[in-house]
Amino acid sequence: LIHQNTYLVSGELKPWRGETSEVYSTISSTKDYKPTLLGTIPILGENEALEALDSASQAYNKGQGLWPTMKVVDRIACMEKFVTQMKTKRDEVVKLLMWEIGKNLPDSEKEFDRTVDYIYDTIEAYKQLDRHSAKFEKNDGVYAHIRRGPLGVVLCLGPYNYPLNETFTLLIPALIMGNTVIFKPAKLGVLLLSPLLEAFQNSFPKGVVNIIYGRGRTVATPIMQSGRVDVLALIGNSKSANALQNQHPKSNRLRLVLGLEAKNPAIVLPDADLDLAIEECIAGTLSFNGQRCTALKVLYVHEAIVDEFNKRFSEKVDALKFGNPWDNGAKLTPLPEPDKPAYIQELIDDATQKGAKVVNQKGGQTLENYIFPAVLYPVTKEMRVFQEEQFGPVIPVVCFTDIEQPLDDMAESNYGQQVSLFGKDVKTLAPLIDTLVNLVCRVNLNSSCQRGPDVYPFTGRKDSAVATLSVHDALRSFSIRTFVASKDN
Ligand code: G3H
Repeated sequence: LIHQNTYLVSGELKPWRGETSEVYSTISSTKDYKPTLLGTIPILGENEALEALDSASQAYNKGQGLWPTMKVVDRIACMEKFVTQMKTKRDEVVKLLMWEIGKNLPDSEKEFDRTVDYIYDTIEAYKQLDRHSAKFEKNDGVYAHIRRGPLGVVLCLGPYNYPLNETFTLLIPALIMGNTVIFKPAKLGVLLLSPLLEAFQNSFPKGVVNIIYGRGRTVATPIMQSGRVDVLALIGNSKSANALQNQHPKSNRLRLVLGLEAKNPAIVLPDADLDLAIEECIAGTLSFNGQRCTALKVLYVHEAIVDEFNKRFSEKVDALKFGNPWDNGAKLTPLPEPDKPAYIQELIDDATQKGAKVVNQKGGQTLENYIFPAVLYPVTKEMRVFQEEQFGPVIPVVCFTDIEQPLDDMAESNYGQQVSLFGKDVKTLAPLIDTLVNLVCRVNLNSSCQRGPDVYPFTGRKDSAVATLSVHDALRSFSIRTFVASKDN
């Protein structure tokens, strides 16, 4: 059990004796499938939230604080100290990733290692950016020394599905560019920060990183309403992002760095290599049970191959092993949100009432707190599973005859993150790709959708994202270009 009874403000781990909230895992350690108590977290109030805001504002000190004015090498040294200490906590964090969010062992280890790599890559990118941008230029007789400066105080909120990695893809670039941060973790995947709090405290100057716990409306709302936040950095849902943005008195001046929802489609053309398409669609729809913004959330399969696709795809889905995250070969693991199986069942019921069938034998079976992935076919626009971002184990398959159908649906969609395109004929693929890149931000040819490698731009159109979060782009997202101009060099 972890009883997190401190929060990090002004460089101090302050004791908390007020309200707390219990954190449970849906993974059961008993035969009666009761959730397992993992620990408790503080439920801070408005005063503590504003204390964190004061701490971050003082550390930034309108751009004149120690951190925003610190030399590049010194800021890098703090980051290196942090990552060195973080690496010693790998086992503890990986174990908590498995218990808190049910991520299987290989993926939990990958999340940790990817985050460490991301920090080192960010340090390198920052060195390059500094060398590249801190340069002299001469145009029309004016010399300019161009550099990149911080934006101010950042409120950062991360998601439950990548509570370490995605959180850090916001925190790390924000910090290294000289901003100060108030971070509130998500409700799930919150205890895994406990082993890292001291590393934050030891590595960064007072007030640069502040970590608070509690309900959004009690802690995030007063921070936004104060109007003293310069950047809202959030990976999660647009409802929360919109609400927080609107609470800021100058919401149109606020810098937004947002990673939001998506409904990434796969389009399987009649000449596709079916084995490859099926393998990639399995990974795309079901890794981490489909709880990824980049997951494939609707499969468009051409009518000439749809029956064959459904048969072979369903067999592969049914063959996936369900187990606890640490079980060898477990691809399907317990869902961390207790109400998710009931929601998935609602989507299945809605689709079947409107004419779809569950194609795979095990689809919809319940196991402990899990619902086995259901492959639904034929799915039509009226069904909720077509319209909603299911973020879980249910797979809608849509039959198409004319390529205009998935293209029109994508054009009408509120989202525009990625697409997977499966086919062989270059003459067909080339013009299609030219259209698809105008509808989404990444076209994956004969492969499933994903965020990595982290040097590639991670963003989206429409309601899917604001700003870009690759190793290099994130540095730009959390900074502004400034320069010194002179007529003499
Ligand atoms: O939830 C959204 C994540 O950014 C997905 O990342 O494609 O590496 O799993 P991933």
